[in-house]
Amino acid sequence: MYFPMRSLRNRGYSTLRRYFILKQLRGNLRKLSYEPSSTILGIETSCDDTGCAVVTGKKDVLGESLFSQNVLHLRYGGVNPLIARDLHRENIEQAVSEALEKASINIHGIDAIAVTIKPGLLISLQIGVKYARYLAKTYQKPIIPIHHMEAHALVARMFHKIEFPFLAVLISGGHCLLTLVKDVDNFLLLGHTLDNAPGEVLDKAARRMKLRNIPAYSKLAGGKAIETAAKLSKNPELFSFPIPLVKNRDCNFSFSGIQDTFVRHLLRKECEHNAVGDRIIPEVNDLCAGLQMVIAEHIAHRIERAVMFCTKNNLLKESKTIVVSGGVACNNYIFESLKNVGNLLDCNVLRPPPKVCTDNGIMIAWNGIEKLKKGCQIHDISLDSIDPKAPLGTNIIDKVKEANLYVKVRRLKKLIQ
Ligand code: KG4
Ligand code: ZN
Repeated sequence: MYFPMRSLRNRGYSTLRRYFILKQLRGNLRKLSYEPSSTILGIETSCDDTGCAVVTGKKDVLGESLFSQNVLHLRYGGVNPLIARDLHRENIEQAVSEALEKASINIHGIDAIAVTIKPGLLISLQIGVKYARYLAKTYQKPIIPIHHMEAHALVARMFHKIEFPFLAVLISGGHCLLTLVKDVDNFLLLGHTLDNAPGEVLDKAARRMKLRNIPAYSKLAGGKAIETAAKLSKNPELFSFPIPLVKNRDCNFSFSGIQDTFVRHLLRKECEHNAVGDRIIPEVNDLCAGLQMVIAEHIAHRIERAVMFCTKNNLLKESKTIVVSGGVACNNYIFESLKNVGNLLDCNVLRPPPKVCTDNGIMIAWNGIEKLKKGCQIHDISLDSIDPKAPLGTNIIDKVKEANLYVKVRRLKKLIQ
């Protein structure tokens, strides 16, 4: 830990004042050494969910709260940043209080505050960071800065016995990444999306199909509505979707072609049935099934190359694990499809419980515990530490490309009924 002795002197603090400031800092640090009883408050506000949780080193979730804005943003077919920021601001205090109350603990019983500082929407991240800094200053607590995507990957270790290194595929409304997790603070980026994220495509597709007009789906996230509708499909192969990037021998993703094909199918059917206004096409369930299937096929194809690359380069242990996390990992069809393909490759495929796959405070608090345990440097943060576009880990995408590994495309319908 860096003690800012000189900077305090430069700021004109007296010797006595310097002594008390440093004593206080050291006091916080002493509390910061890891113990199984270490208790961390996690705060997440990177997108549209205000999530807080109190988690211990023994993996106990003492209390949690989640103020989801999903229903509101459904109307816009995407997250409206200004509304997201205003709702975080409105809810943050209550979210923290609720998590602490449920944990039957007051803020004095917390050892540190973990908060998401990157990546995400700038004005949403600012609300969480400002509040964490206010709490830290008022109650003399250290802050542990957290990377949102690292937290999505690492939280799986709270629920399953997973050793480093492992592969993680992070699929959500804002991201799509394939990463090798070598340690708590050591990630290699194998691939990322070149355009949209899968959750974004699902949300837009759900809106375009007007699924919100079906009362049972009106309050569901777009991806969840599509999963529910797809289950009712009698003919999941009615609509054909080409798998993207089959000729690119890398682990990158692309979902814009899938979105275009989807819109073409929908327009054709809307025209055929004169489905104007609020009317929904009769083949809606089959279209949902086809869309969901090609998303799973595309992700599986990239995962297969990532496993091949890591195996060739001895980057994974003999017992290979793949973690699937992020909001889209809640989708049972997509998860089971990836699990089937992973198992064919001798990999154990795991995900956190679905409610921990989507954005939440638990994963942030847990990441704080992991960092504490690892002894990662914990430094003070300012609002300048916020990085909305922060990449994940060391980028080795070109190395994967150079390896030029051929992977045969698998059509999933043959694997999953
Ligand atoms: O991880 P997350 O909560 O937020 C981001 O960081 O983006 O993911 C939200 C995304 C949304 O696009 C939502 O439609 C999708 O996760 N999602 C699902 C399901 N539940 C949520 N996608 C597919 N199937 C689901 N069951
Ligand atoms: Zn997320």
